[in-house]
Amino acid sequence: MKFTKTTAPLRGELTVPGDKSISHRAVMFGALAQGTTEVTNFLQGADCLSTISCFCQLGIAIDNTPERILIHGKGLHGLTAPADILDTGNSGTTTRLISGILAGQPFASTLNGDASIQSRPMKRIIDPLTQMGADIVSLRGNGCAPLLINGNKFIETASPSSKDTMAALKGIHYRSPVASAQVKSSILLAGLYADDETSVTEPYVSRNHTELMLRGFGADIRTEGTTATILPHPKLHGDLISVPGDISSAAYFIAAALMVPGSELLIRNVGINPTRDGILRVVRDMGAKIMVLNETTNGGEPAADLLVKHSFLKGITIGGALIPTLIDELPVIAVLACLADGTTVIKDAQELKVKESNRIDVVVNHLQAMGAHIEATEDGMIIEGGYPLHGAVIDSHLDHRIAMSFTIASLMADGETEILGVDCVNISYPDFYKTLEALER
Ligand code: S3P
Repeated sequence: MKFTKTTAPLRGELTVPGDKSISHRAVMFGALAQGTTEVTNFLQGADCLSTISCFCQLGIAIDNTPERILIHGKGLHGLTAPADILDTGNSGTTTRLISGILAGQPFASTLNGDASIQSRPMKRIIDPLTQMGADIVSLRGNGCAPLLINGNKFIETASPSSKDTMAALKGIHYRSPVASAQVKSSILLAGLYADDETSVTEPYVSRNHTELMLRGFGADIRTEGTTATILPHPKLHGDLISVPGDISSAAYFIAAALMVPGSELLIRNVGINPTRDGILRVVRDMGAKIMVLNETTNGGEPAADLLVKHSFLKGITIGGALIPTLIDELPVIAVLACLADGTTVIKDAQELKVKESNRIDVVVNHLQAMGAHIEATEDGMIIEGGYPLHGAVIDSHLDHRIAMSFTIASLMADGETEILGVDCVNISYPDFYKTLEALER
């Protein structure tokens, strides 16, 4: 797809699709709950559809309509063996979270996904789940998918008359080397099937949607500092979930409004959970005019309208505990930093290397091709802002966040920018181009 520099400011009002992380969890936890879970504003993106199709294969009835989805949960022990390989598509969240659940089931299953998933690190979940007693094999021996999960190590409960089974998983206290909500959630979900409490301590707190939603469904789960602890075998009950707009999707429009002179956008109903709102803190520190209006909370998840106006930005340093709160926004933050005054340093962000693409290399190489003064470092990048961007040919590497970040960069680039492989925006934001076009008119 080809783009040229925008000639008009972006003005008006928009909503962004439902939060991807919360949508995945609504399906998964709804499946493990008793009764029906109703979800509104569910993200109909390819990643969340992968989660739906995996749970259908595990025997869960799901009615998916544009207005709402209904998940007819069968309780913690209601999943049934899949007839075929579970296809997790491009979705790291599906792959890692479902692994924790499957580790606790009395049947074996095999998981696989696309080429990107087959190169993403799964050892980070295989190791702790194995410590819990799970039997997980990376079938190619490279620590990646396909994964065979022999979740069949079950023992009968004390009462011989009872048909109940209890997992042989052991509760553990795991100190995770990475601040990753996918790792944390995978272990906590396996903890539902363990013999004792399970806890995960992270270097920094990662997004806490699992903790909030499981608590809402009735699980005994508590957090203290960077540790989350869950007790096994709760009775989960279905709930009504209204998914807020995804701040990771709003990020593209926040960046566009800040960069394009004369712009003013009101983005309605965006999730502003403090474990996800790092972009708001960063752009404010850079000098952005951004207002948070009409705050509400639903199921423990805060949301608000964001009013964003064109602003002159300055470079800053971004690192430490802030990184997990904006990890998916770093590509578009790098674009913003190219247009800011002064130096921006992004550090402690080595996790970018193991996302849908190596986002340090891809962002740095492509922004250099557009004329930016940017260098890769071991754990992030350093950007000298204030140099004009020009068009270039950009390969999305089939990474949705790369495609959208460079579309935003193209709005400020002289000449023509061609982005290859834009269809991957379907992963998290199927209507991205339609929404952008409507604002440009
Ligand atoms: C997610 C967690 C993050 C994030 C991903 C979604 C989740 O990954 O990058 O897009 O829903 O838990 P990590 O947990 O690997 O950091």
